[in-house]
Amino acid sequence: MEKSCCSSVFKLSRLVTVFMVPLFVIFVIVSIVTFHKFYSLRLLEDSCTDRFRVGGGGGYADFDVRALSERIQDALQRIVTLQEKLQSNVEKMDKSKQLRDQKISGSEFRQFLEEEVIQELYEAQIRLRLIRMPKAQLNDSFTVEDPLINFFAVEELRKYVSSKQTRRPGVSGMNQTYNSIGHACVLMKKQLEDYMQYDIGSYCADDWDLGQKLILGGCDPLPMRRCLARAPRIYQSPFPINESLWKLPDDRNVRWSKYQCRSFSCLQKKRVQFDMDTEKLKWVTVTNTTSTRLRGEFSITDVLSVKPEGEIRIGIDISVGSTGTFGARMKEKNVTIITTALNSDAPFSETISLRGLIPLYVSTNTRLPLFDNTMDLIHTSELLDGGWMDLKAMDFVLFDWDRVLRPGGLLWIDMFFCDKKEIDEFMYLFLQFSYRKHKWVLSPKSKDQIYLSALLEKTPRSL
Ligand SMILES: *[C@@H]1O[C@H](CO)[C@@H](O)[C@H](O)[C@H]1NC(C)=O
Ligand SMILES: *[C@@H]1O[C@H](CO)[C@@H](O)[C@H](O)[C@H]1NC(C)=O
Ligand SMILES: *[C@@H]1O[C@H](CO)[C@@H](O)[C@H](O)[C@H]1NC(C)=O
Ligand SMILES: *[C@@H]1O[C@H](CO)[C@@H](O)[C@H](O)[C@H]1NC(C)=O
Ligand SMILES: *[C@@H]1O[C@H](CO)[C@@H](O)[C@H](O)[C@H]1NC(C)=O
Repeated sequence: MEKSCCSSVFKLSRLVTVFMVPLFVIFVIVSIVTFHKFYSLRLLEDSCTDRFRVGGGGGYADFDVRALSERIQDALQRIVTLQEKLQSNVEKMDKSKQLRDQKISGSEFRQFLEEEVIQELYEAQIRLRLIRMPKAQLNDSFTVEDPLINFFAVEELRKYVSSKQTRRPGVSGMNQTYNSIGHACVLMKKQLEDYMQYDIGSYCADDWDLGQKLILGGCDPLPMRRCLARAPRIYQSPFPINESLWKLPDDRNVRWSKYQCRSFSCLQKKRVQFDMDTEKLKWVTVTNTTSTRLRGEFSITDVLSVKPEGEIRIGIDISVGSTGTFGARMKEKNVTIITTALNSDAPFSETISLRGLIPLYVSTNTRLPLFDNTMDLIHTSELLDGGWMDLKAMDFVLFDWDRVLRPGGLLWIDMFFCDKKEIDEFMYLFLQFSYRKHKWVLSPKSKDQIYLSALLEKTPRSL
């Protein structure tokens, strides 16, 4: 008697365990799923009130709201089904002869199921439902937001930084993407908001200089804008290429309002880079002279001759205050050069393009928009001069150049200068890539300063 009693209690507890294990698993799944639902509901709400707050489909990152909601419905349904099944079992037990014939009393079992199983399940379900409900307690800190969205008040800027759903899976396979701005933009919030304050489709303010200030301050990339950029009032067709390379452009093709000079003839007097007669002498003939300035000046012919003819075809000239003369000379050698330029106190970008060359409006704050191992040549002059740049920043820049330069490509450091006592540090930076040295010339600039010119070749990397 006792034995059979004990065995039925054992059977009962096994039965309950069999019930409880899947129940517990479901409970865990439902808890997790519901907690996510709690977030996603919040997201959906937001997307109704502000469609730019989250992606149009109500998704955030890997969040698929519809699938989630279906899973929750499914899980809830399973709990309900289970509860009903248990309940019907309890009812069956009430009636079943066989069960009553067992030594454990049916009422005992019924009570057990009702109290320990059904009640528990019911409680769990109620709790889960409660978790989904309490919208009143919701607080913005739970909202998953696009980065920076609430940092900016200007609507156009908010639209720009918010995520965008792709309408079809794009090349990248990404379903949503972001327009990017440089993180330092947050430090220049006021200026950036001014910059993004415009009526969509109307003319932009004449504020390219503000944009440049932002870029130089590290707000780079700068947001795109949906306003019409101002142009010179009367734009003249550029000169044909056989003339444009060595001729100062038409004054009417530049907006002068932000410069001290208001014409190219003014610039020609004030800035040596705009004097085409002087520019024509650069990199062409290296006169043997006592002038120390010229000692480290290599000619383009000499440089190109270190490689088989025609092997250097494309390159980038990263210089400050260049009007594109290097590119022009290289063009005559059938080498295509991209010239980086910012419009620092003079319309460098326009000048380069009006000469028929390619200007690239980038600062040293960002990675070059070029893929790895693509350039045959990197030429730099005046950019790093005087060693003004922080050494770590410069190191990042040099590594980026190394990335872009193809194996066998040339790095031409053209008349870099710095303080004599700092030369070792810079030499270390330039030499750390173990490039092959074709030319390496140190020459004094003044009592305290020194020039370094170098022609280095990136060596193959077989890894
Ligand atoms: C949200 O909660 C945080 C801390 O729990 C509180 O500091 C903040 O003021 C709340 N925000 C709103 C909008 O209630
Ligand atoms: C994009 O959405 C499709 C269809 O919903 C999905 O199959 C795919 O995994 C998603 N891709 C990413 C990167 O989220
Ligand atoms: C440039 O080319 C055009 C058309 O081939 C020609 O008419 C013109 O005279 C050339 N100009 C110069 C300076 O060679
Ligand atoms: C310049 O001087 C070097 C040696 O000092 C000489 O080899 C070279 O031929 C000279 N070049 C010219 C153009 O006179
Ligand atoms: C550049 O290319 C043109 C056309 O192919 C050719 O006539 C000219 O000789 C080339 N110039 C140089 C310097 O190789």
